[in-house]
Amino acid sequence: MALAPNTQLKIERTENLPALPAVTLRVTELLQDSKSSAKEIADLLRQDQSLTVRILKLANSSYYAIPGGCKDVSRALSFLGFNTIAQLVLGLSVFSAFDKLGCSELKLIDFWKHALAVAVGTELLARELKCGNPEEAFTCGLLHDMGKLVLDRIEPQALNLVLDQAKAEQETFSDVETRLGFVGHEILGSKLAEHWGLPQMISHSILHHHLDLESISKLSQLDLNSRRLVSFVNLNNEWARESEQGHSGNFSKRFRSLTELSRQFQALELSHLNEERLKQLKQNVFKAFGRVEGLIHAFR
Ligand SMILES: [Fe+2]
Ligand SMILES: [Fe+2]
Repeated sequence: MALAPNTQLKIERTENLPALPAVTLRVTELLQDSKSSAKEIADLLRQDQSLTVRILKLANSSYYAIPGGCKDVSRALSFLGFNTIAQLVLGLSVFSAFDKLGCSELKLIDFWKHALAVAVGTELLARELKCGNPEEAFTCGLLHDMGKLVLDRIEPQALNLVLDQAKAEQETFSDVETRLGFVGHEILGSKLAEHWGLPQMISHSILHHHLDLESISKLSQLDLNSRRLVSFVNLNNEWARESEQGHSGNFSKRFRSLTELSRQFQALELSHLNEERLKQLKQNVFKAFGRVEGLIHAFR
């Protein structure tokens, strides 16, 4: 069994793939329009009561810890800002769009826990190293493995097969896909992101998250901060696995050392990211992973 090379066509035609709600599509447009205002998103959320309830649940989670809590969207917006709320709408909608799995080998809760850990770590690195937009970094991390959910919708047996082999051989999910000649989940995920019209930064980070850091540094279609963001997704994908945050089908026990990582980050012109600084950041990220549990309950 091998996925047909024309998976692109399948993504465009399949009826199995979920659509995003109209409100989310409008929020995605607002995110890409520099003239958008907080009022526009507040007006949109007013049209979708269930989304509003979930946004407030997230805003009141221990992750955001708004002092005194918040009961309405205006207060959530004033504390968290337009960008955070818009990115959360996007994340929540994708979370709801894939609310069950056809394949039996992967647990959705484990998958999203892994995704949220990568989101939290990527946001933290973007903020601490002042690279790109931290709120967007969160979504790039959250959606990086979305292609596995696409694979589940279009070929659930293929997903089971990859997971079985990755487990048996203690390999990464991605290596097994390549070995079996399947279309990679990074391609499936980025195609769906494009199909939904998500911001380009998101589809690029999905598409390139398995490249090594040197190859990421050579992605000439992206500016330097965008390349760094992709590299943070790549790194947190590994750190989330090392810290055993959820599971997304990677069974490899190989992790890059801090020495190896600091050498690789030179290509991204992050020369100040020496071993000592990386060690400190890793500690901060692992500590932030502790807040994933609070987030996942609010996301569900
Ligand atoms: Fe992946
Ligand atoms: Fe991953």
